[in-house]
Amino acid sequence: MIELTHIRKTYDDAFEALNDVTLTIENGEFVFLTGQSGAGKTTLLKHIFMEEFPTDGMVSVFGRVSSARVHPKFREIAKLRREMGIVFQDIRLLSDRSVFDNICFAARVGGGTERQIKRRVFEALTVVGLSHKNSSKPNQLSGGEQQRIAIARAIVNEPKLLIADEPTGNLDRSISDDIFSLIESINSWGTTVIMATHDRSFLERTHYREISLAHGKLIRGGGSRIIADRY
Ligand SMILES: Nc1ncnc2c1ncn2[C@@H]1O[C@H](COP(=O)(O)OP(=O)(O)OP(=O)(O)O)[C@@H](O)[C@H]1O
Ligand SMILES: [Mg+2]
Repeated sequence: MIELTHIRKTYDDAFEALNDVTLTIENGEFVFLTGQSGAGKTTLLKHIFMEEFPTDGMVSVFGRVSSARVHPKFREIAKLRREMGIVFQDIRLLSDRSVFDNICFAARVGGGTERQIKRRVFEALTVVGLSHKNSSKPNQLSGGEQQRIAIARAIVNEPKLLIADEPTGNLDRSISDDIFSLIESINSWGTTVIMATHDRSFLERTHYREISLAHGKLIRGGGSRIIADRY
């Protein structure tokens, strides 16, 4: 479970990127994170990934807690990150390495023998439908293919949580739809998914919860639907 309790984040001691955000996400859920550019979506995701720490409040992800005063040890964060896959807004593939190597680096973090690692890389590439591109360099791929590689890298260690920050950013309709279906499949296999998006069409055609931010404040969807349904 992921819990954010009264999170506030200020950058440079002044600018409030997040302001009193409280929310819960249950294991297995699919949630959208929406809000205008600059609303704080990436900042919120970075708190879950523990790349940023709150100025006030508390973040708890699968039992690891960070707050202004207490940060998990480096080793704990590394362990936590092995349980998460993240697709960054800026993709972050290594341009001078092959697709295979890009995913292999992430797979090694998950451990196992070299043979097991290679098998996991091929499985992840197969899931995203790009096993035939394993020796290409990222710049030889289309934007949609690069995004799929980023997804393969994120799921190669079978994470409990997939964070996808605008995974369909600059892609055309049909490619965006394919990537969204892929992320839905990953969720259907049991992985919790948090997907930041500007694309309302995904929200209109599904019933997943929408968590919405405006100027760093939560304006919708903080409570887990599963919990809300219980009462
Ligand atoms: N490292 C940083 N230092 C200072 N300010 C930052 C930093 N990171 C983000 N901000 C500011 O925090 C605010 C929220 O940024 P964030 O990237 O979380 O927005 P976003 O909702 O992801 O926007 P977009 O839809 O454009 O990706 C912005 O005003 C941004 O300029
Ligand atoms: Mg962002």
